[in-house]
Amino acid sequence: MAATAITCIPLGSTSKGEMIGSSRAFRCVWDLVQMVARTDSAVLIHGETGTGKELVARAIHEESLRRRGPYVRVNCAAIPAGLLESELFGHERGAFTGALTQTVGRFQLAHTGTLFLDEIGDLPLELQPKLLRVLQEQEFERLGSTRTTRVDVRIVAATNQDLAQMVRERRFRADLFYRLNVFPIDLPPLRARAEDIPLLVDHFIHKFALRTNREVWQVAEEVMETLQRHDWPGNIRELQNVIERAVIMSPGPELRLPPTERQRLVTSDAPQPVRTLVEAERAHILEALRQVNWVIAGRNGAASRLGLPRTTLIYRMRKLGVKAEGIKVDGPTQAVNLRAPILPLNAFSAPAANAGYEL
Ligand SMILES: Nc1ncnc2c1ncn2[C@@H]1O[C@H](COP(=O)(O)OP(=O)(O)OP(=O)(O)O)[C@@H](O)[C@H]1O
Ligand SMILES: [Mg+2]
Repeated sequence: MAATAITCIPLGSTSKGEMIGSSRAFRCVWDLVQMVARTDSAVLIHGETGTGKELVARAIHEESLRRRGPYVRVNCAAIPAGLLESELFGHERGAFTGALTQTVGRFQLAHTGTLFLDEIGDLPLELQPKLLRVLQEQEFERLGSTRTTRVDVRIVAATNQDLAQMVRERRFRADLFYRLNVFPIDLPPLRARAEDIPLLVDHFIHKFALRTNREVWQVAEEVMETLQRHDWPGNIRELQNVIERAVIMSPGPELRLPPTERQRLVTSDAPQPVRTLVEAERAHILEALRQVNWVIAGRNGAASRLGLPRTTLIYRMRKLGVKAEGIKVDGPTQAVNLRAPILPLNAFSAPAANAGYEL
């Protein structure tokens, strides 16, 4: 088996801060980052999970004139809806039960810097007008206060959801969407820039070899080919985790994929027989249901993740013979990839999000 010695990554050409890549798609994204960084325009970053949205947000801050100011991140999906308002805008003492002290919100903390609103698609509808106001007027009131606070904050938002579709379904306010979508950046999935995989593999080997004190510095061509052929539904995060595991388990200088890992990567990439659209839709709905433990309604339910009203999902489940326990009424059972991210159902017919620029 031929082994290639890994090379040091020449800084400048392929590395932009922590971001690695040299493909056309990567350079296209980097050009957009450079173009917009020095303005104060709002940026909306869209991309599948693990494509580097957070790195891009930070790069925009680092490349901007605000780089010496604070960079503050809020994960709209991780903070319970009831607490998010106070988290963003702060509150006065006694504003609500349990508000024992005055608290400064993230908008104020980000004054003169950048506020990164991550998972913006999960921002509750009732908070959206308040966010719109602060984006437009750069002012807000803390909970429990009548005093207006003015801030100078640049907004970068990110999501892996289709916000335009959410607007059509009235799950996201159109005015807020247009205010955020001043400068959209679509991050390509890793499978659309497989030529970056060797660079990324080199980078992660260096990183984890240093961290774990291993002397790994070679990759067999066959291993690299396997890595380049995989379609990486978890994108760069998934690749990073595979390399970390492999570095830990490599006994010598050559990177060894553990046998189960190799098997998984090869099997998941074996060509699948083409299914009918009905079969594909059925498998996709089943996959979504399994990933959310068969919860249909609610913010994190399958209907929301598939971009469908709850009633439509139930109707389609009935029509396709999907029963609550996941047993099909008729037809062959499908093997499903449990790691695949859930796409909105319209992904079966809608054009790709990256259609805006050539890859
Ligand atoms: N171009 C890149 N070069 C090197 N590492 C990268 C690159 N892009 C992403 N990564 C790494 O991949 C991991 C995932 O990136 P990040 O958290 O930015 O993705 P994300 O799009 O925000 O994912 P999610 O939607 O799940 O939050 C991080 O550890 C990040 O450092
Ligand atoms: Mg993220």
